[in-house]
Amino acid sequence: MVRLQKVIAESGVASRRKAEKMIAKGLVSVDGQIVTEMGFQVKKGAKISVDGKLIQKEDKVYYLLNKPKKYICSNSDEHSRLIVTDLIECEQRIFPVGRLDYDTTGLLILTNDGDFANKMIHPRYHIPKTYELDLKGILISEHIKRLEKGIDLDGKTTLPAKIKITNKDFTKKQTTLEIRISEGRNHQVKNMFAYFGYEVTRLNRKRFGFLSINDLAVGKYRKLKPYEVVKLKELADSGN
Ligand code: URA
Repeated sequence: MVRLQKVIAESGVASRRKAEKMIAKGLVSVDGQIVTEMGFQVKKGAKISVDGKLIQKEDKVYYLLNKPKKYICSNSDEHSRLIVTDLIECEQRIFPVGRLDYDTTGLLILTNDGDFANKMIHPRYHIPKTYELDLKGILISEHIKRLEKGIDLDGKTTLPAKIKITNKDFTKKQTTLEIRISEGRNHQVKNMFAYFGYEVTRLNRKRFGFLSINDLAVGKYRKLKPYEVVKLKELADSGN
């Protein structure tokens, strides 16, 4: 048995929150009976209608995108900025798995599979993510050690990270580096460096677990292969 709002959301007709509103308004029926009870459990094979139309289960799709700058990771934007889903041509109602900032580029997964997305971003599952970045200033070894060990961000210590310096430009006073973290808190990378007063001026996610975007130009995307989806789920489970 599955909750009614989940079945509706998975059919692609509406988001879970919108589905709840439709249920409350009496627009949803199960096997011919209007249901307004929130959390109503639906039996397998039940016929569900929303606004008089029978819903069907939507195929699950998974995309890998190389996100350009100036796109937001959301389903809509009140400031009319471009949104990442505009870049992908598909019939399903997909959404980004986690967020990359407006000015961050790189690897982003999009899907219509809510359970998969939750698994990928849930703090319990520690999927490693690698970012490359430039920051203003020369990063000193003391700060590298402390960032790798864990610092206090919003009252919670960050999990161990790995930093690899790729360039120190003493003329421009800029450090280029890679950092691997296994969490996905909001603005985590920028906030980690801001903790020691460094400003991140370029941020690109290049790896998510075993996935990379070397084969994708900025703004381009491809479908994830079924084995990649399975492997990502296994990776999340193993980091539990
Ligand atoms: N960390 C950030 O600060 N920003 C991102 O977009 C991703 C990780």
